[in-house]
Amino acid sequence: MRRTILTGDRPTGPLHLGHYAGSLATRVELQHSHATYVMIADLQALTHHADRPEEIRHNVMEVALDYLAVGIDPAVSTIVVQSGIPELAELTGYFLNLVTVARLERNPTVKDEIRQKGFGGEIPAGFLVYPVSQAADITAFGAHLVPVGADQIPMIEQTVEIVRRFNRIYGSILVEPEALVPRISRLPGTDGRAKMSKSLGNAIYLSDLPDAVSDKVMRMYTDPRHARVDDPEQVEGNVAFTYLDAFDQDRSGLEILKERYRAGGLGDVALKHHLIDVLHGLLAPIRARRQDLARDPEQILRILREGTERGRAVAQDTVAEARRAMHLDYQTGP
Ligand code: TRP
Repeated sequence: MRRTILTGDRPTGPLHLGHYAGSLATRVELQHSHATYVMIADLQALTHHADRPEEIRHNVMEVALDYLAVGIDPAVSTIVVQSGIPELAELTGYFLNLVTVARLERNPTVKDEIRQKGFGGEIPAGFLVYPVSQAADITAFGAHLVPVGADQIPMIEQTVEIVRRFNRIYGSILVEPEALVPRISRLPGTDGRAKMSKSLGNAIYLSDLPDAVSDKVMRMYTDPRHARVDDPEQVEGNVAFTYLDAFDQDRSGLEILKERYRAGGLGDVALKHHLIDVLHGLLAPIRARRQDLARDPEQILRILREGTERGRAVAQDTVAEARRAMHLDYQTGP
């Protein structure tokens, strides 16, 4: 039996290199060997952007373009829009009884986001419980594997807890998922902060034009103590090298570069020029495909509608089974 993958993204903007390193590349690679579902989580985006529905709608299309441009193939993967599958909301409702408020408040990723988004005392209830809705996303599709960046590990942990609780009370029907985290699972921002993110303004987008990419790399954070080219420098924690670790295919060339940098004799400007070349090599074909696809929005909508319809059938089966297990099937049952 082929194993099932589900993963997704919030449509809060176009996708960036952090998404690519964290999860997109894995999806493209595994889509041929796994039943793959990829979700555009528009309802999750609403949990902190309730007042910006048009923007989310627009970004659903942007994310879909990014998916197709990086090589998620709608003929083998199923791309679904979360809001098109109301059964997910139903399952979320059942799961909410299996998790405590205290546990939700302990989720480290949610905690980070609350701090970063500056909600203050005004945290939307939907935001606090979005890990539960994410557990519904994952389990509705019976996913065994969830390819994600490191920041999403707490979500999978919380999903596993909910699944165990559900299965213990109602009978074993839900699949326990596992996170699939790549080697470089958290790409720092161009400013050197730990995470690349749209809201921090430190992202390189898959759709960025070549000039924007060069510009962002040239302004990328480097160690201010590395004043002279001949100074020996540290590779660890250097943002440019972290990006090269993630994207430079020439592994032995990269090792030589690191040696030279450590010994002194490789300046930050030369290093950045190399990184720009590597990123252009990665992004040029993605950008070309994206521009091509963007010419036919009707086709994108068609792909989303077909995928959502196919995906919904799977979620409906799981939820029907959950209802039976929970003795909620008096309208359809025996
Ligand atoms: N929380 C994820 C993010 O912020 C998006 C997401 C929603 C997701 N549902 C998911 C990821 C299910 C993996 C599985 O990018």
